[in-house]
Parts: sequence; structure tokens; C-alpha cells
Amino acid sequence: MCGIVGYVGPKSTQEILLGGLRRLEYRGYDSAGISVITNGGALETRKKAGKLDNLIAEITNHPLAPANIGIGHTRWATHGAPTDGNAHPHLGGPTSKLSLIHNGIIENFAELKAELVAAGTKFASETDSEVAAHLIAAEFEKTGDLVAAFGAVVKRLHGAFTILVIHQDAPDVVLAARCNAPLVVGLGDGENFLGSDVAAFVEHTKRAISVGQNQIVILHSNNVELRTFDGEPVVPEEFTVSWDASAASKGGWSSFMAKEIADQPQAVADTLMGRLASDGSVRLAEIDGLTEADIKAIDRIVMVACGTASYACDVAKYAIEKFSRIPVQVELAHEFRYRDPIITPNTLIVAVSQSGETMDTLMATRFAKEQGAKVLAICNTQGATLARESDAVIYTHAGPEVAVASTKALVAQMTAGYLLALFLGAGRGAVPAAELRSLGKELLKMPARVNKVLGRLDSIRALGKELSTAKSVLFLGRNVGFPVAMEGALKLKELAYIHAEGFAAGELKHGPIALIEEGQPVIVIVPSPRDADSLHPKVISNIQEIRARGARVIAIAEEGDAEVENYAEHVTYVPKSANIFSSILTVIPLQLFALELATAKGLDVDQPRNLAKSVTVE
Ligand code: AGP
Repeated sequence: MCGIVGYVGPKSTQEILLGGLRRLEYRGYDSAGISVITNGGALETRKKAGKLDNLIAEITNHPLAPANIGIGHTRWATHGAPTDGNAHPHLGGPTSKLSLIHNGIIENFAELKAELVAAGTKFASETDSEVAAHLIAAEFEKTGDLVAAFGAVVKRLHGAFTILVIHQDAPDVVLAARCNAPLVVGLGDGENFLGSDVAAFVEHTKRAISVGQNQIVILHSNNVELRTFDGEPVVPEEFTVSWDASAASKGGWSSFMAKEIADQPQAVADTLMGRLASDGSVRLAEIDGLTEADIKAIDRIVMVACGTASYACDVAKYAIEKFSRIPVQVELAHEFRYRDPIITPNTLIVAVSQSGETMDTLMATRFAKEQGAKVLAICNTQGATLARESDAVIYTHAGPEVAVASTKALVAQMTAGYLLALFLGAGRGAVPAAELRSLGKELLKMPARVNKVLGRLDSIRALGKELSTAKSVLFLGRNVGFPVAMEGALKLKELAYIHAEGFAAGELKHGPIALIEEGQPVIVIVPSPRDADSLHPKVISNIQEIRARGARVIAIAEEGDAEVENYAEHVTYVPKSANIFSSILTVIPLQLFALELATAKGLDVDQPRNLAKSVTVE
């Protein structure tokens, strides 16, 4: 799961590549490097372990000559430690005229390496990627045809890869191959781009082509050609990128995460736009293909996702079951795929992913499709593999999410899940249409409410700072508050590197209460007290139980809930809403809490250690 960028055109290649890498750095930041073919015809490479700034310093100290063609890479290490030597690009051939970058894993690299070593090839790194560089260079030496050499070698590679290659003796072309890893082409005027996703080039062009499985791209400045690995021509499918380039910059915020938290009212509003009418009725044109008969035939929904996206599924489960009475099962994609799950043609798979490139989620959906199920994706990234491979897509319109910790993508996923629940509810007729429309009207109010929450976060912010030395924080919730509690704990783990766990509040007495001791911070998501069947009294009892054992209780509660103040040391209020939609509101203070706590510890909130944003390996 690395970021790759390629460029051919008249502009400063160095600037284009470094700009693209800056936008892709979320995909990996163990090391970075670029290669260019200079206007004088020489292949020049700079690479450095650590974040992109280290590479920029290296280039400042050792400038590259002007160039109009090049490739760049930002790495999340798999094979070989994150060192200068293992950083990409890797050079191939005895005279090192070929430069290659790779995202993914070459599973058969050991046998290919043995073959090269036996032929006398010397390796400069411990990576699997360098094997491909030497193989392509050797093949080119034999035939003098770079495209043919490239095509012959990529067919021999097993695993997941996007590979980009330039060669000093073919100075006007970048070659790319895609197999189980992302690749998108950007089409410019007299210039063309390659990237792991459109963020790599969206500031230069919004015209893009997504590249299919087992396809090769031959990229010149004035021409882009696509072929299959077998050499068959492919007619490219062009699309227009809807992301605004400025959305992928910090715009004065201290971090991308802080900016993305602030973007959330817009993310919710944009995800609702055009889908929810003012009378509360839902129209999901993307899944118009699903007729009323199709909806009636669904006997089970299986939602697959990983990490934060899986908590969006947990929230959606409550809403879909409530509004449509269709049973929903939520599965971590990596567990689902490998346990011989039961899937029938009447099972609808809903795969949720911000990036649309999470390999675990892709493998789960591919498996489900093989079993005959229909797959509906909820995805944030146009042209992503998940979107391409699904029967239908509901795009979340959160815009580019750069910080590794997901925030605005999550609230957009929750919003899309609610829309889907209302849509299925209308199709099934299990709940009166007027009731669903009134819920739809309530959902329309959520962007304004999210905005209101953002204006009330000073005290949770202060609390984050105050608790920066905490060794552990627990989170409790019920109903949709339960996945919110899980998400609060995940945010704290990934950003602040401290122990954090989320529990269903009802589970407390079955074990976790033993963790409570004097001073243990516990954040409790308190449900609205207004519903007739509210779980409010039960959660208040849970708070009393942990208070009696010394916990410091921090409550996230609905405004007007004065009772909670009698039991909690600190309360952050969110606006009133139907309890089922409250997850969109209650999760926000938890995001801010984690951000502040991690910042107070001096940690990099945008790029936490050991993580990458899109996990494109299993
Ligand atoms: C969230 O903060 C995480 N970084 C991570 O759990 C993420 O949500 C997960 O890897 C799924 O990513 P996706 O939505 O791109 O599939």
C-alpha cells in the first residue's frame, strides 16, 4: 500500500511528482523517491527513508536536472525495512538505465530472484520489487522493445501490483501495469499523469481513466494507450473527477484531520444532496436498477468492511433492520472471506470503503460475487476498484480524505447507510411511508446539527489535553452508540497509541467492569431520554455502577438531558435528533478528543505510526 505517481509533459516533472506524492503520502510514509529522465537524456534518481520532507531535503541538497518525464513513490514497507536502499524507485539492469516503482506484493519474487541471482544479477535492496526491475531490463536488453519486455514480465508476476517503469533508452514513455492494486490515468493537454488515485493529479486535470485488472498503460505526453496483459487493445472509459483540488489541502488548519473534522457538515450535506427530497422521500438513482421485486426478494444483507468503515456498517444495521425489517449481518471483510460464509442469490452484499481499494474488502466482495450475490458498494473514491467491480455504487461525497484516521468519510458512510435504510424501507413497505418520510426530513436536518456540534467542542478539547497522560480510556454505548464507542476507541488507539476499548454498555457487568478502578476515564455515549423505548435509564444505571467504582465519567449526551449531569464529571451536549441518527453527532466529540489528546502528546495526527490509509494488501 504505497502511493505512485507518473508524469510525461512539458511542466517541471520534479514539482509535479513531489506535489502528487504530497497528496498520496497518506498511503504510506516510510520512505519516498523519484526518478526522472532529464532533458539531457540521463536517468536520475533521489530516494530517502522517512517522510516526504526527507526526500525534498535530499533533492534540495542534490538537485535534479530539468526533466519532462518521471515517476515517484511513497512507501509503506512490506518486504524490507524502511531504509534508503529499500526505498523506491529501484534500478534494473547492469547499467541501471531502467527505473521502477511498485505498489503491492510480488508473491513469487523468491523464485524469480533465485533465477536472476543464478544469472549473476546483483541486488541493491531486500525488496520484492527490485526483481521486476531487473527482469524487465534484461528482457529489454534482449529485444530492444520496452513495451514487449514490460508485457512479458508483468505476466510472470503473481500477487498484487501496480508497476511503473521508465527507461533511459525510451525517454518519452512511462509504462504502467495494474493487477489487484489501484491505478488511474489523468488526461491533460499535451501532458498525461498516472496515480494511485485521482488525488495525485486532480490539481492539474479532472479528466481521468480508471485502469482495469491486468491492463497495461503506455503513457506519452500526447497519447495514452491501454492494452490487456495479452496485448489486446482496450477502449478507455473516461470520467470526470468531482473532487475539488483545494479540498485536498490543509487550507490553514493545523492538520488534515482537524480540517476534515470541520468538513463534516459539508460531507453529510453533499452525501444527501439530490438523494433526499424536501418531503423526506429518498431517491437513489444509482440503484435504480434494483426494482421493487428485487428489493422484495432480498432475504438478507451482509455488510462487509474493515476498521472505521465497519462501524458505519454497524450503525447502518440498526437503521436497515428498523426501517426495512431485512436482516443485516455485519462482517469484517477479512473474517468473512475465509470462513465459508453462506451466500445465496438473494443475499445482498453491501461493501463499505472510503478508498475502495482495501484489499480485504475487495477480496470479500469478489468472493461473494463468485457465489452469485449482487454487490452494492458505498465508496468515496471515484474510479476505485471496489466501485468498478460492484453491481452498483452509492458514492459518499466526503471529498478527498487525507488524514489516515477516517473522520468525514465515516459520517458520510453513516449518512449513506441511513439513505439506503430509508430506500429499502420504502421498497419493502414494512414501515408506513409517512413515517419514513418524516425520518427523511429529520435526516435533512443533520448537516446543520453537525455544524452545531462543531461549535460546542471547547470543553472536550480541553479534556483531551488534560488526559494526555492517561494510560487507558474506555468507551461505552448502546444501540447506535455502541459502534460510536468502538470508533472512539479506535481513534484513540491509532492516534494516541494508548489502550482504548469500546464496549456495549449492557456488556459491562459481564466482565469489563472489572477494569474499572479509581480515576479510570470512561466516555459514555448516552442515548436520548425522549423516546418511549429509550435505553437512557439503563445507561444512567451503567454510569452509576462505574462511578461507584471510581471511574471518571465523561458523557456525550443530548441537549436538555439534565439528569446526566448528576452522574457525570463532564458532559458534552449534542443537538436533539432521532436517536437512530444520533451517531453522526455523537462521534464528532470523540474524534476531537482523540485529536487533542494525540496532539498534546506531540504526535503526528495525520500520519500515525505503522499505518497507511488504504490497506491494499491482505
Ligand atoms: C480509520 O481511522 C482507519 N484508518 C481504518 O480503520 C480504515 O477505516 C480502514 O482501513 C478501512 O479503509 P477503507 O474505508 O478505505 O476501506
